[in-house]
Amino acid sequence: MGNLYGLIGHPVGHSMSPIMHNTAFLRLQLEHHYHAFDIAPQRLADGIKALRILNVSGFNVTIPHKVEVMKYLDEVDQEAALIGAVNTVVNMDGRLIGYNTDGRGYVESLKCVLKKPLPENKVLVIGAGGAARAIITSMVLQGVKEIDIINRTIEKAKLIKENCSQFEAKIDLYSLNDLKVDLSRYNIIINTTSIGMYPNVEDVPLPVKSVRPGSIFSDLIYNPLQTRWLQQAEEKGALVHNGVGMFVQQGALAFEMWTGIKPNIEQMTNIVLKQLGG
Ligand code: ATR
Repeated sequence: MGNLYGLIGHPVGHSMSPIMHNTAFLRLQLEHHYHAFDIAPQRLADGIKALRILNVSGFNVTIPHKVEVMKYLDEVDQEAALIGAVNTVVNMDGRLIGYNTDGRGYVESLKCVLKKPLPENKVLVIGAGGAARAIITSMVLQGVKEIDIINRTIEKAKLIKENCSQFEAKIDLYSLNDLKVDLSRYNIIINTTSIGMYPNVEDVPLPVKSVRPGSIFSDLIYNPLQTRWLQQAEEKGALVHNGVGMFVQQGALAFEMWTGIKPNIEQMTNIVLKQLGG
């Protein structure tokens, strides 16, 4: 008999994780199953208890439970603790251990467009929410030395900077209204905000005035697959990278933690693209 895996969140109806993981199980001839559990915030404690009783082998965690879930786990690994959020839980003989594969998944997805080793890049992150925090923490842990943050609410960017203070990285902060930021100073510019996401597809997080030749513009949005901002950057000669890779790679890392098997990334990507109609 196969194992049961899942996703907890609220809502979870539109998640692409079940089809991505279940297809990978099928293709590997594993009898496991992945199910999306819709758990309201006030039922989270009971929800985790239920997953323990059902001996669920592992689960992903999505909005709004990524931070709150940590209270109910037996252990949280170092990177997830530093990020302050968990997106993957592994059931190790009844002990629930929390990890965060968002930042590492993002970095993994970026590798196909990177021109030089990650630590040698100067990075600008737009936004300072949960996704930015995961990406910045993983990048700093993987040796990035210069990583600036630009956000509407500067206080949130300060919190991320403080959180990374034990590392060598130099982090400068800018306000989103501060149009002095010169994008041509960076090799990698990452939009982690929802600006430009469907239905507001005409919006851009920052004007694309200048592009360093060969620099990477990366947008975590995957609906649309190519945001207006990425279109503008590509027209000016940038390499562009969308959010599909991060979604696939964070799931692939979880899959590997649960099963010990590296799933086929290309197949997973195709499933997700099909779901997105791309
Ligand atoms: P996620 O988990 O996807 O990162 P989040 O934690 O809600 O989501 O963070 C969203 C980020 O996008 C925040 O940094 C937010 O800016 P604030 O810190 O000022 O709230 C930013 N963001 C979202 N919509 C925005 C908008 N219309 N203009 C500017 N910034 C926006």
